Amino acid sequence: MKTLAEMAVDVLTTADGREKTAKSHAHAAAWRAARAGEGPGIAVGSAAPPLRPARPERPELLDPRDVPRRKPGSPQGRIALLHAVAHIELNAVDLHWDIIARFTEVPFPPGFFDDWVRAADEESKHFNLMCDCLESLGSHYGALPAHAGMWRAAEDTAEDIMGRLAVVPMVLEARGLDVTPGMIEIFRKAGNDEAVAALETIYAEEVGHVAYGSKWFHFLCGRHNRDPRDVFHDLVRTYFHGALKPPFNEEKRAEAGLPPDFYWPLAQEKG
Ligand SMILES: [Fe+2]
Ligand SMILES: [Fe+2]
Repeated sequence: MKTLAEMAVDVLTTADGREKTAKSHAHAAAWRAARAGEGPGIAVGSAAPPLRPARPERPELLDPRDVPRRKPGSPQGRIALLHAVAHIELNAVDLHWDIIARFTEVPFPPGFFDDWVRAADEESKHFNLMCDCLESLGSHYGALPAHAGMWRAAEDTAEDIMGRLAVVPMVLEARGLDVTPGMIEIFRKAGNDEAVAALETIYAEEVGHVAYGSKWFHFLCGRHNRDPRDVFHDLVRTYFHGALKPPFNEEKRAEAGLPPDFYWPLAQEKG
């Protein structure tokens, strides 16, 4: 029986997207069964995650400036949008397994692992939903180039669990809450029910991922008796290189435990 950390490395070192997500689902199911007392127990253990996860040969990864922009009003533009989301979801699968494997020396209650295993399981579903939508439109994941910079946040915070929580779930995944309603509208207008349903599933489940980030960030701040808002601002300034762009989805951010005084000051500062 693999440890949870070994399962994480197994996902991270699998290149093909469908194969990676199948392993992710299987390992998540084993962990859930073990935690429910329905299967053999699984130790968290420890393992050495790769600095960068294995990825398929396609899509070609380009500097964000070189990824061609397409109008979302055209069929090709909508395919490009779904392709970009598929790429984000595959990256998110790896990000959640990476946080499980990389910080095993930090003592956490088992709920920490329950949360990130569940998030990884959901991202795996999201990736497959996006692939299904692409295939329904006669395309597939890998047909277009994708952003090369997605793993940067993981590398920058590979030594800092609080930095990782601040930047990945609380900045990047929170950004997803801001932009997803607009995407759903694009596909609603185009009459693509499959994509609308898939994006609505993603939108609903991403609130949970941001909430896990906020929960464990606050947990660590409490453990070290530090002010969460100040620490969050310091870490985002240190590790995040983009700007926090309004408009923010204040309703969903609040639902996820992200108060306005966390993100507004950073938006005003970076403009
Ligand atoms: Fe997702
Ligand atoms: Fe997510």
